[in-house]
Amino acid sequence: MALYLPRVIGHRGAKSYAPENTLESIHTAADIGVKWVELDVKLTKDQVPIIFHDDTLERTTNGSGPVAEMTYEDIRQLEAGSWYGESFAGVKIPTLEEALDVIYERDLGFNMEIKPCPGREKETAEVALDALASSWDNHSNLLISSFSHVSLEVAYDMAGDWARGLLLEKDLPENLRDLVEFFDPKTINFDADTEESAIEELLDLELPLVCYTVNDPMKARRLVNLGVDGFFSDCPDVIEENLPKAH
Ligand code: G3P
Ligand code: MG
Repeated sequence: MALYLPRVIGHRGAKSYAPENTLESIHTAADIGVKWVELDVKLTKDQVPIIFHDDTLERTTNGSGPVAEMTYEDIRQLEAGSWYGESFAGVKIPTLEEALDVIYERDLGFNMEIKPCPGREKETAEVALDALASSWDNHSNLLISSFSHVSLEVAYDMAGDWARGLLLEKDLPENLRDLVEFFDPKTINFDADTEESAIEELLDLELPLVCYTVNDPMKARRLVNLGVDGFFSDCPDVIEENLPKAH
């Protein structure tokens, strides 16, 4: 099935308007007209897939320490909204299943970024993909990505016909073409700080290029002029409004 990819994907939901990677952030993205959201998935100590970005709790919750040492019960006690704003007090870290329920309810596409805690690359991918497999059926609206090659290989083995995105850091790997051949990605998801000469190298791959994270409309326009196809943005509505009108 062909992948339908919008020009702008809401990063961690809609991170500029609600606490990242929460159900509120997904709802907010839908409210402002976003078609797809990107969310980060990792595992609790007892193997529950949750939506969370960092390896530790400090930045976005009232807890502390490594996520990999917390059970789901521990995670449930935490609060993940007050750091962002008092109106979000009481917001919880969602499980992948809870996030999927909102994604279905709001009819959104989904980029699941597998974001394993160090050393948990294989099991994070296995558990997250299992959870998705039991409920997701529209594969034109789903992209699986990861910086972890171990996680991406699990995706290839477990769900070979689901679209994969190869996530790249700003310094491109020397074996880029080998990686593309091996993982057979449908998209290349690259860093907004990538040098222009390296973006030219990416264009030569002749795959859709999706750039993270772009919140400046001028930058988005410059990248579109270079040949970039889409963006992850914390303020996806602002980027969408300022791109040249789609035909
Ligand atoms: O998937 C695109 C982007 O989210 C990758 O970086 O650190 O925001 O997960 P990060
Ligand atoms: Mg991410």
